[in-house]
Amino acid sequence: MFLAPSILSADFANLGRDIDMAVNAGAHWIHLDVMDGHFVPNITMGPPVIRALRKVTDVPFDAHLMISDPDRFLEDFVKAGVNWITVHVEGAIHLDRTLNRIRQLGVSSGVAVNPATPLAMIEGILELVDMVLLMSVNPGFGGQKFIPYVLPKISRLREMINRVNPSILIQVDGGIDAHNISDVRRAGADVFVAGSSVFGSKNPAAAIQELIRLGTMANA
Ligand code: DX5
Ligand code: ZN
Repeated sequence: MFLAPSILSADFANLGRDIDMAVNAGAHWIHLDVMDGHFVPNITMGPPVIRALRKVTDVPFDAHLMISDPDRFLEDFVKAGVNWITVHVEGAIHLDRTLNRIRQLGVSSGVAVNPATPLAMIEGILELVDMVLLMSVNPGFGGQKFIPYVLPKISRLREMINRVNPSILIQVDGGIDAHNISDVRRAGADVFVAGSSVFGSKNPAAAIQELIRLGTMANA
């Protein structure tokens, strides 16, 4: 399993310090939530901030683009140093073109699916992705509660992926904490995003280690 702390809930005045802490505690990836105030009702960070953070660590940077018409910015994110780009199926009008472009630019591709969006939307394009991100909250904000109906959706996606290409990763994003990470792992997830349960905790490094321990113990 891979733990990808989301810096959305970190201290924005000390992002470098918080990433350094997360990596030293064992975080496998860093999850970067990019919001444009259009696709989602919030605005966060863009390529200049990511470029600055790239100097802090070599662990994979996973950019979750919650933006409309992501094609305009793909190259900027790659130049800023991300290793993964995930776009929303609901925000990309020409999804086939977008996913091909991400791979052409030399990084791994992901497609994100909102809680209410059916898996049928991505069934036909799985060969174009290295990862599917299932949202377990409505995108836009950290600190929301995990939506329980996403759990059986993870299992259905796992079956779908196993038929096409079992090496495609399943990432689950939103409301993951020490109470539910084992269930999410057993449902078939590989990559776990955690924002508030890490950076909102009194001891973020211990929270990271505990999430990794629980995720590793629960066998997918
Ligand atoms: C929501 C973001 C998530 C979120 C995770 O739009 O995509 O990455 O910040 O934060 P928590 O773990 O607090 O739900
Ligand atoms: Zn995210």
